[in-house]
Amino acid sequence: MSKNVVIIGTQWGDEGKGKIVDLLTEDVAAVARFQGGHNAGHTLVIGGKKTVLHLIPSGILHDGVNCLIGNGVVISLSALMLEASKLIENGIPVYDRLKISPGCPIILPSHEALDAAKEKKLGGSAIGTTGRGIGPVYEDKVARRALRISDLLDTEKLSSKLSAILDYHNFLLKNYYGVDELIYDEIYNDLLVQRETVLPLIDDISRTLEDLQIQEKNILFEGAQGVFLDIDHGTYPYVTSSNTVAAAASIGTGLGPKDLTHILGIVKAYTTRVGSGPFPTELFDKSGEHLGKVGVEFGATTGRPRRCGWFDAIALKRSIRNSGITSLCVTKLDVLDGLSTIKICIGYELDGKRIDDFPLDVSLLDKCIPIYQDFSGWQDSTIGITEYSDLPENARYYLEWIESKLNTPIDIVSTGPDREQTIIKKNPFS
Ligand code: GDP
Ligand code: IMO
Ligand code: MG
Repeated sequence: MSKNVVIIGTQWGDEGKGKIVDLLTEDVAAVARFQGGHNAGHTLVIGGKKTVLHLIPSGILHDGVNCLIGNGVVISLSALMLEASKLIENGIPVYDRLKISPGCPIILPSHEALDAAKEKKLGGSAIGTTGRGIGPVYEDKVARRALRISDLLDTEKLSSKLSAILDYHNFLLKNYYGVDELIYDEIYNDLLVQRETVLPLIDDISRTLEDLQIQEKNILFEGAQGVFLDIDHGTYPYVTSSNTVAAAASIGTGLGPKDLTHILGIVKAYTTRVGSGPFPTELFDKSGEHLGKVGVEFGATTGRPRRCGWFDAIALKRSIRNSGITSLCVTKLDVLDGLSTIKICIGYELDGKRIDDFPLDVSLLDKCIPIYQDFSGWQDSTIGITEYSDLPENARYYLEWIESKLNTPIDIVSTGPDREQTIIKKNPFS
């Protein structure tokens, strides 16, 4: 029986999803993105060579794999083409492997301008977005005025729809934000050039996924961001503008939820966050410095330093629940090498009382003081270990404590950025 595995981030993004998607692509016929856009930065390292993907599914380096962009993804055509051209330069025939849903909303330069203007106006309470126009384009999608990939088919309709949207964007930019308007002709002419590349890629992704299922082929669904950046289930308003929980794989591609057979949650052996918003286990001490430095915690999209903190079992409990996670993959275990004590958050103190659930209300979350359990660290290096039994005893204890506390098996452990630096205890496709 073929399997459909969904890979999602269980924290605030950058858990190492890209590496694991690439690794598991070995066993699949297609990899589908289902939400987000080029705010994502997914890093693949193969034999020491690094590739960072933003919009193109992380299966693209494998021959003969269909890379699908589902309707839930928002697309900047200029970002897509830039990313594709870099891969093509490296000998990857991107356009032979890539298919795009006609339902994807298109990110225009005016969405990026609005994103920047909004953040500036928010001042000290800015979200710390990636500045890629993600929020404004999802606003347009929900308001039913977005330009979609299917609008590229008819240039007359494209022209009138763009004109209406740009009038609205320019009204906001000029009158509400007091910044420069954008020029219609420049945007339209770019779209006319870009459409020539995109038209042959348009595909009914829902139908393609069904066909693959009928042929009993395995499919991988690649999430972007992480559960706590979800627009509904995250730390609102310090979130992205899409649903990042596992259910989004269904909405964002058009394959029903009962066909999602396995949900693999990716979790770092500690926690990171980029941008603003509450983060109860954040560290400002030497241990935090260790995680940032050894983990090379800088954003793959914006280069911003990531905030670092201890593993939060209470937060993960919520992710496991709201995404129906079947099993876990723990990444960056090697980053904990050399620490004498490692901590896991097992509860919070809120207004003098102990709670053991992660509150989503940011005003409550801001007041939560983590309660920690200490674990003895290990001094041996775990870098590149591929056999579970070769891990130091304390590392195994740390992982097994997480498994038993959260009642969820750890199928994969990542011990370095490279594809090969991985322990696969159980392949979700087997
Ligand atoms: P994604 O957005 O979830 O795909 O993750 P990112 O690519 O943004 O960030 C993960 C970073 O950690 C990248 O630089 C990866 O190369 C790196 N990485 C992934 N797994 C491991 C690991 O097990 N150990 C170490 N040291 N680095 C890792
Ligand atoms: P991957 O897929 C980490 C964060 C931004 C900001 C918030 C809203 O690589 O894990 P947006 O531009 O989406 O409106 O920004 O979400 N953010 C991410 N943080 N990893 C990501 O993606 C992210 N994508 C968005 O930093 O706090
Ligand atoms: Mg990332």
